[in-house]
Amino acid sequence: MTQQLTGAATASGTRTRWWRDAVIYQVYVRSFADSDGDGIGDLRGIEERLPYLAELGADAVWLTPFYASPQADGGYDVADYRVVDPLFGTLADAESLLGAAHALGLRVIVDVVPNHTSDRHVWFRDALAGGPARERYHFRPGTGADGGLPPNDWQSVFGGPAWTRVPDGSWYLHLFAPEQPDLNWENQEVRAEFDAILRFWLELGGGGVDGFRIDVAHGMVKAAGLPDIGTPEQVRMIGSQTLPFFDQDGVHEIHRGWRELLDSYAGERIGVAEAWAPSAERLALYVRPDELHQAFNFQFLRCPWDAPAMRTVVDESLAATASVGAPTTWVLSNHDVVRHVTRYGGGTTGLRRARAAALLMLALPGSAYLYQGEELGLPEVTDLPDELREDPSFFRSSGQEGLRDGCRVPIPWAEDGPSYGFGPGAGWLPQPDGWGECSVRAQTGNPGSTLELYREALALRRRLAGLGDGPMHWLDAPAGVLAFARPGFVCTVNTLSAAVELPAPGRPLLSTSAPDISGESVRIPGDSCTWWAI
Ligand code: NOJ
Repeated sequence: MTQQLTGAATASGTRTRWWRDAVIYQVYVRSFADSDGDGIGDLRGIEERLPYLAELGADAVWLTPFYASPQADGGYDVADYRVVDPLFGTLADAESLLGAAHALGLRVIVDVVPNHTSDRHVWFRDALAGGPARERYHFRPGTGADGGLPPNDWQSVFGGPAWTRVPDGSWYLHLFAPEQPDLNWENQEVRAEFDAILRFWLELGGGGVDGFRIDVAHGMVKAAGLPDIGTPEQVRMIGSQTLPFFDQDGVHEIHRGWRELLDSYAGERIGVAEAWAPSAERLALYVRPDELHQAFNFQFLRCPWDAPAMRTVVDESLAATASVGAPTTWVLSNHDVVRHVTRYGGGTTGLRRARAAALLMLALPGSAYLYQGEELGLPEVTDLPDELREDPSFFRSSGQEGLRDGCRVPIPWAEDGPSYGFGPGAGWLPQPDGWGECSVRAQTGNPGSTLELYREALALRRRLAGLGDGPMHWLDAPAGVLAFARPGFVCTVNTLSAAVELPAPGRPLLSTSAPDISGESVRIPGDSCTWWAI
């Protein structure tokens, strides 16, 4: 296990800081494996496939929300935080999954969604009925002569106003869909309830969960008085500038409290921020020593396939996290973005670059997140019929935005079958013809396959104790090439489409396209990455 190789024990001898270099595999529950044939992935399906994840070489699994929910936003609209939605199974299934994962040496992180509840949550029902739970949300009178205009100019991330009017004439805030009313984190009952929810999952049977991925960790606190932004360009600015509802200093106090709570449990349970901060420096604030353990590095995910741009992101990310002593994280895809094969150009070029980017990511210091199916080299599905789409932002933006269904298509496990092994019947979204060629079964044992590349890379990463958490330094390289050294190791990435010649840095260990070594020099194919032993 990685933690045995590279973790640093503390005075008690028990803490291993496993998260600093962990490879964490994201399971989008609805689309991973369907055990009961209803077309929707479920907890039992995941449990059956845990050996696959252990054998792939993941250290931990992150499960997207599987709680009771009307599914207005793929489960990020939670109606009951302590209940498993019948679509996905039962609480007993969750306990069984946790026990099975732990027996295989896999940790399990689950999502917590604290910025908003579902509009079907008992609190919001009470709020609409004028009950005391109204104080736990943001209700305001409207503006304009008859209060018919929203209280301020904030726009929903999914498009349209961030406010919806209710029958008594007042408005409530929802930074996402109207079915996701924002909670008021100034309210002490909200804080107490989420502490209790965290404890519930930490103490569940099967050893409890090993941590939480905190949804919208940057949005729970809003600027006092909910001030106008004053510009219609607001939504475009998310992640590039501070807005009165994102990245407010007040969120840090909540995260510090959660860190204390996590630390009060044995077993190094972690908190991971899904925080869209305007800069690497602002993001680093979420991972100060007394705050969360990790934050997703979306700057890396957003970076184009371009050597200078990638180098800048790597440098900025490492510098920012080093300033607070935290590990950097790396991520290329998740359930909210176009899969990186497609982002990097699609087709064979996109796949070559995606494979190279994966080796680059896994050679960098820190922890890496994999999104289900990237180890199969899956592209985005771009031709889903509109009537099958479920992404709420698709509907709120007249189809111009929010095409997140294309990365959520059920993944293929077998060459054939009604859903290529995803389940006994068809999946909730149609898979492209020929999807079976990308399946786990088709790629297993094929030495040139993307799946075997990932398996080998993860196995090597474990074996080479200096990878993961530790130092790196850049080496001289021709334009378009990135080269860096880790202890006993060099990684070269050619981002150009043409081959490049350079002095051979050492003995090749693993590559996405074989380098051509002749004497002291090597020709590195275009769009490729090679790991070298030195
Ligand atoms: C981030 C989640 O990843 C996304 O899927 C969701 O729509 C929003 N947060 C709102 O909860």
